[in-house]
Amino acid sequence: MNPWQQIPSNEYEAHMSAPHVQQLQILNEIFRKVLDQFNPRSICVLGCTNGNGFEHLIGRETETILGVDINYKYLAECRAWFAEDLPALNLVCANIDEFEMSNSNLDLIHAALIFEYIDVKRAIHKVSNWLRYGGILSVVLQLNSETSEPVSETPYESIKNLSSIIKLVDERNFVYTAEKSGLKEIYSTQINLQKGKKFYVGYFKKMEIFKIIS
Ligand SMILES: C[S@@+](CC[C@H](N)C(=O)[O-])C[C@H]1O[C@@H](n2cnc3c(N)ncnc32)[C@H](O)[C@@H]1O
Repeated sequence: MNPWQQIPSNEYEAHMSAPHVQQLQILNEIFRKVLDQFNPRSICVLGCTNGNGFEHLIGRETETILGVDINYKYLAECRAWFAEDLPALNLVCANIDEFEMSNSNLDLIHAALIFEYIDVKRAIHKVSNWLRYGGILSVVLQLNSETSEPVSETPYESIKNLSSIIKLVDERNFVYTAEKSGLKEIYSTQINLQKGKKFYVGYFKKMEIFKIIS
């Protein structure tokens, strides 16, 4: 079983919002900014948990909202909280490494702290196929830190198991691999977190014509 399937949402949230972690709020704000910038009509959120930031979708003219996560309990909470206010909401419980979609033509795919747990190359290739030309992939990667372990220490036992599966992604390799799949980085920034941790935030546009780098 994937360790993510054994992390109760209350422990996940308590870990992510602990004073020395504070990532839940930052991820929420990153999602709000992406929505404000691109105002998508169709969106897919990979690794959506229980819908962190989905309140920012309420009242927008979004025709398709797809959330994908491996933990069905997170999705059940997401549905309970947002289904009424977001009639376009569809939730799929799946392992992204095995998940496929056809005819999606999406405006935006948001993938925050998920590439650390999946096959990066395969996922980038799939994501590129799911976007329409001109569509956007927004990504949050956790950067390597000399002062912090990839999984911060908190009292929650279930979280500790993530240490065995998390694989930090080098952002330069990510940009290179994305470009090979026709996704061009159009914006990037770094966000400094507690205890020397950092996030890379990048927006990638699906290009109509792209040069294949061998
Ligand atoms: C760090 S959380 C993502 C945070 C969230 N995107 C946000 O912005 O607040 C990682 C999520 O990815 C999900 N996940 C991990 N591996 C997965 C996989 N192989 N397929 C689908 N979901 C996965 C976990 O269940 C968890 O909900």
